[in-house]
Amino acid sequence: MTASYPALRLRRTRAHAWSRALHREIAVSPADLIWPLFVTDGDGVEEPIGSLPGVSRWCVKGIAERAKEAVALGIPCLALFPNTQPGRRDPLGKEALNPDNLMCRAVRAIRDAVGGDIGVLTDVALDPYTSHGQDGLIDEAGYVLNDATAEVLVGQSLNQAAAGADIIAPSDMMDGRVGLIRAALEQAGHHNLQIMSYAAKYASAFYGPFRDAVGSSGLLKGDKKTYQMDPANAEEALREVALDLAEGADSVMVKPGLPYLDIAVRVKQRFEVPVFAYQVSGEYAMIEAAVAAGAADRDAMVLETLTAFKRAGCSGVLTYHAPLAARLMNG
Ligand code: PBG
Repeated sequence: MTASYPALRLRRTRAHAWSRALHREIAVSPADLIWPLFVTDGDGVEEPIGSLPGVSRWCVKGIAERAKEAVALGIPCLALFPNTQPGRRDPLGKEALNPDNLMCRAVRAIRDAVGGDIGVLTDVALDPYTSHGQDGLIDEAGYVLNDATAEVLVGQSLNQAAAGADIIAPSDMMDGRVGLIRAALEQAGHHNLQIMSYAAKYASAFYGPFRDAVGSSGLLKGDKKTYQMDPANAEEALREVALDLAEGADSVMVKPGLPYLDIAVRVKQRFEVPVFAYQVSGEYAMIEAAVAAGAADRDAMVLETLTAFKRAGCSGVLTYHAPLAARLMNG
């Protein structure tokens, strides 16, 4: 063996746990997590969701309990999604404007339970409220109308703001809606209300279990490809992000998560703004299926994926594994 072989050994710093800890470039903590929760009607109700094993819809009281749990775990933010009763869905999604809809009641219950100790993110889009399962209003041909939808989304946002939401998160992908929502919020005096736009949201095959959870999967005909992005496009994602930021978004989201990490990296590097990733329902279901098949260690896989998002530059991650991850991180 020559004296010079090998002078540089990258394994040196990996040889001991203390050294690996010392050289670790990023860390994940519960503060990186946003916990998505599904709200349903009723009292004392917990409805397990078949396609999302381990995830349930909770009644408003149950949501308040989850908020206490999140505060105890150090999770800083919840994201709410309603499973609207079928009788309250119509072609125009009018229930989205009802000040006493499930979402607004859940926001108020969280406030009553934990005050301002947690942030509440409310999703803006009409799919949990429409009888056709699309995110907006449709014409006779089923095409989702942009400007007419955006008008309703403004009303929905103001409704959520009045209920006490902290972050308005438009997930509908209509053009121009962030600007309209921002102007309306300013005019209504909600100067500190954040907008986290689902800026780069793809027409993905990974949303299936979510649509079960909010009860829109049986209603939806066709797909969402005329408004959500083509998975083949990356430059277009940068244009979407640029527009939403110019229109007044405080932070942007990339969705789905792991299959689109390249997008998260490019958005972060280009714009240097807070970027969040949504590890969506299909990604959760994939991990759970692998675990159920004996093919994976859930805890390790969950922590590794969350580490990957942070390494990519994300400020945080929306994940259904949030309570488990927080428990693991808290040791
Ligand atoms: C509603 C919305 C969807 C998701 C978040 N907000 C579904 C969709 O666009 O069809 C998906 C989240 C998930 O799959 O976990 N517009």
